[in-house]
Amino acid sequence: MDMKDIIYRRKSFRSYSKELLSADILQEIEKSITEAKPLYPHIKFDWKIIGTDDIKCVQNWRAPHYIAMFTEETDGARENLGFIFQQVELYMQSKGIGSCWLGMGKPADAEIYNPDKHTDMQFVMMLAFGTPENEAYRSDIAEFKRKTLAEISDVEDTRLECARIAPSAVNSQPWYFVHDGDIIHVYCITKYLIHKVLGKMNKFDMGIALAHIYAENKETFEFFRTENPKEIKGYYYIGSIKI
Ligand SMILES: Cc1cc2nc3c(=O)[nH]c(=O)nc-3n(C[C@H](O)[C@H](O)[C@H](O)COP(=O)(O)O)c2cc1C
Repeated sequence: MDMKDIIYRRKSFRSYSKELLSADILQEIEKSITEAKPLYPHIKFDWKIIGTDDIKCVQNWRAPHYIAMFTEETDGARENLGFIFQQVELYMQSKGIGSCWLGMGKPADAEIYNPDKHTDMQFVMMLAFGTPENEAYRSDIAEFKRKTLAEISDVEDTRLECARIAPSAVNSQPWYFVHDGDIIHVYCITKYLIHKVLGKMNKFDMGIALAHIYAENKETFEFFRTENPKEIKGYYYIGSIKI
């Protein structure tokens, strides 16, 4: 299955075989990370693949592997990681490897990331992955529990269907799209900003939705920020796209 088709079939897997993926497969996943397009090429980030015993998480399920993500704290850093690692998520799922973003987890050893190497970066997010057990992909778009196109966009633009069904933290779907000629301005809901965790997670969500739009429009996708974006009550500006 290619990365466009998998957008309409993927899901978050929470049941995995304990078996480790082969070194070859892990290498292919690493390659997909290095080949992913960033949203903000200037933002420094790094990652490390770690195992089940290397993480702390209150949830009652475990995966055999996790990608721990590190970044410098700057504007757009979380959107950038959402964008990059959702491309990786789609790659994995297109190869039959299950995955799930994991905002509730963190490395057991705070020193897992060598602080002497990059003092300006910190751990921010994980992506769990492995061979799914007793769980199948979605077979019908109706299986996605999501807002309607009319709820997430000023125009019922079917090109945004891929973003509509993107994964988000607690399925919060914080995105809103505003059309302006051939430009689409992208906004995030402010509702959760006061929440200690969810406001930050929503920034990943925005990068994730943009990654789905990119995966569908690889040749034409452009992302940029405009100087004086229109204000939309209840939302803040993330950036603008042309597809
Ligand atoms: C940034 C982010 C963080 C998430 N954190 C968790 C988590 O900690 N635990 C979990 O079980 N699922 C987590 N999820 C998965 C979401 O609950 C899931 O994407 C959403 O409910 C939509 O379901 P789907 O991915 O199967 O389409 C997270 C998703 C995102 C995008």
